[in-house]
Amino acid sequence: MSFDLVLFGGTGDLAWRKLMPALFQAFRHGTLPAQGRIIGVGRDDLSNEQYRDLIRSRFDHVELAKRPSVEEFTRFAALLEFVQMDLSIPADYARLAAALAQRQADTVVMYVATAPSLFTTVCEQLAVAGLNTPQTRVVLEKPLGHDLASNRAINESVCRVFGEKQVFRIDHYLGKPAVQNLFALRFGNSLFEPLWRREHIANIQITIAEELGVEKRGAFYETTGALRDMVQNHALQLLCAIGMEPPINSHADAIRDEKLKVLRSLKPWTPETLAQDVIRGQYSAGGINGTPVASYREETGVNPQSHTETFVALRTEISNWRWAGVPFYIRTGKRLAGRDARIVVNFRPTPHAIFNSQIDVANRLVINLQPKDGLELHLLAQGQNNRRNTQTLSPVQLDLDFDKRFGSERVGAYERLLLDVIDGRLNLFVRSDEQEEAWRWVEPILEHWKNDAQGPRLYGAGTWGPSASSAMIARDGFCWAEET
Ligand code: BG6
Repeated sequence: MSFDLVLFGGTGDLAWRKLMPALFQAFRHGTLPAQGRIIGVGRDDLSNEQYRDLIRSRFDHVELAKRPSVEEFTRFAALLEFVQMDLSIPADYARLAAALAQRQADTVVMYVATAPSLFTTVCEQLAVAGLNTPQTRVVLEKPLGHDLASNRAINESVCRVFGEKQVFRIDHYLGKPAVQNLFALRFGNSLFEPLWRREHIANIQITIAEELGVEKRGAFYETTGALRDMVQNHALQLLCAIGMEPPINSHADAIRDEKLKVLRSLKPWTPETLAQDVIRGQYSAGGINGTPVASYREETGVNPQSHTETFVALRTEISNWRWAGVPFYIRTGKRLAGRDARIVVNFRPTPHAIFNSQIDVANRLVINLQPKDGLELHLLAQGQNNRRNTQTLSPVQLDLDFDKRFGSERVGAYERLLLDVIDGRLNLFVRSDEQEEAWRWVEPILEHWKNDAQGPRLYGAGTWGPSASSAMIARDGFCWAEET
């Protein structure tokens, strides 16, 4: 099968940080279909050779294990071409059409890794140039809009040009190996299903913590914030994967139908829950691994009086038969105490205690997304050191390290998702109705913040966020996993 992958934003940050390394990994693993072309598109006046040189120099910034050798890059570079385009000039699309007409590939992927304000223009102009053929797939990067109305507007204009089945809305968290394994754990094994419900689960915690600050993206982040950047998409997709009913099969729409039901069942916000159950924070100066770091307001491109949140913690519920009354806590932030993404499922304690327990925790399943990729099952057992008191239990842990078990077979998130686009598999991509439902749910929070002059609570860089986040969860009698 031949393919042409057109990369709008071909010289941009995403292209060289994520997409090219992922495409190279697929090439190295032999999973990228033969007879492919990767056509970078950008405003610069570059020959194919100059574009290859640019990409080669960018690989110097990629982690060593994922960097090509000279010989590997020479072979990979044969796939790379460049087309100069100003995306706002209709005539420039003819140049792209000419490049694609050279070989009529079986599949054409248009990967729009540009500012979202260009999504509509690009799709419209592709149609004008006759490039919205049935063989074409379009990939859209997040953020798709900044609220429900703008998200709808983008989806409507894209869907005037492409059918829903041609649109691949990327959420790279769905491509992470740990998320594949969450689906495998839940729907490929029978062990947990009977326990996966309100009768046995006390609460679920989703944490996506980053040590990084906003880096060079201050100006972008200033108008985005953590709610739009992480919660509306990544965190809610994880919540769907945890909370959804088993799909009837593994087809894309069967999975997406179930995720949509979860989003529709999220408890609607009230003035009380907005005030109590959503905490926003912003990092002040502090230290990450012993290195002093500046506050968010001192970052380049950021308003020195900014009210943009770099941290969100919230409590919600899925109002359905399976989950009624079980709190789901979501927490994400920049400049936190560690790079740590995980889902913690806290089971209910035993109904009647006959042992003494050294700690006050019940069973817990931890799904580690990063930096480790694996599962931990926390149990209680009688330790060797308890000769004097055999009635005392201590915590023990079953640890499954997927990196160790599967090693080099692991496929990175973008590699997996790019291969899926080329193969036309939509399972791990987000449908427009899911996306709209997620916007509908976060909008009241955005509205509430607009009218809340208090602004975000400050937290020191290198901590776990504002103390209000712990107070929120403590009201239910629980605590965040690292506080146990
Ligand atoms: C992106 C956000 O979607 O996800 C970034 O825009 C964030 O702000 C990134 O840093 C986190 O992704 P990962 O895979 O590094 O956890």
